[in-house]
Amino acid sequence: TTRLIIDCDTGSDDAVAIMAAALHPDLELVAVTTVNGNVPLVNTTENSLRVLDHVGADVPVYAGAPRPIVRPDFPIPRHILNGNNPEFQKLDLDFPPSRTPVREGNAVQFLIDTYLDDANSDVVLVAVGPLTNVALALAAEPRLAERIPRLVIMGGSIGWGNVTAAAEFNFWVDPEAAEAVLSAGIRDVLILPLDATHAAPLSLADCDALDAIGSPGATGTSMLVRHRIGFYPDAPDAEKLTAPVHDALCVAVLVHPDVVSDVGDYAVHVETTGERTLGAMLADDRGWSTDRRNARVAKCADAHIFMRFLTDAFTP
Ligand code: BDR
Ligand code: CA
Repeated sequence: TTRLIIDCDTGSDDAVAIMAAALHPDLELVAVTTVNGNVPLVNTTENSLRVLDHVGADVPVYAGAPRPIVRPDFPIPRHILNGNNPEFQKLDLDFPPSRTPVREGNAVQFLIDTYLDDANSDVVLVAVGPLTNVALALAAEPRLAERIPRLVIMGGSIGWGNVTAAAEFNFWVDPEAAEAVLSAGIRDVLILPLDATHAAPLSLADCDALDAIGSPGATGTSMLVRHRIGFYPDAPDAEKLTAPVHDALCVAVLVHPDVVSDVGDYAVHVETTGERTLGAMLADDRGWSTDRRNARVAKCADAHIFMRFLTDAFTP
């Protein structure tokens, strides 16, 4: 069994990640920590509680940072981003209001306590929102860099973006946090950028298959993925409408390492000052570069293995 914490900004694909992590027989979801991102912190927290209630999972939720570390809020207003972007996320997910309260105490402190209390912690940290909480925890307690055994990040992209031409959403929202986390010296960092997540999108046929399973996790995922597919309307063939479910792929890789491919060691950094490139990820694997290779980056992924993971998670 792999134990994990999900740090997230729920968000529809975050919701799928939470449900799959809570239900998959090979995983133990220790806690969910929430951060400002797709929607404001109150909503990412409420949405996380809702999806856990929906699947009947008793997992503690801690709320973290309400805004990026340096920037007051998004560089461009949310409604503009939402209006033009397929990554549109609803303020409140279509699940009944939560019955379980958020835990007392801040998510950042929870992360610090979790990893400092156990020198040999095996809890994988899966960070699928802006990296604000993780960066704040590392800044307050730098020893965390040695204590976090493994960090899986959804973020970045190679040469393109889903918010600007250069930047992926999570790195763009809090670029200083992303750069701080990548420079912290955590020994095992795996990044799944847009290149990987867009290589393994789910289709309407996959939604039908989930509906046929019929469990709350399966139908809840189908509902969310159908909503996401509505925001990727530019597929060449209408029959093949698909959408990436970025964050859930970061959970799938814990059970099926082969769900990703084309994985290499890179020196990865995030642009924090660019005029048009704010939040862009630079992944350098030039042989002559002397930059420390601080992360593995996966550039491709397999939708069939991803779907097998979700099927196993949601089949009662
Ligand atoms: C990332 O941004 C968010 O919209 C998604 O939840 C995902 O974590 C994709 O760029
Ligand atoms: Ca997310």
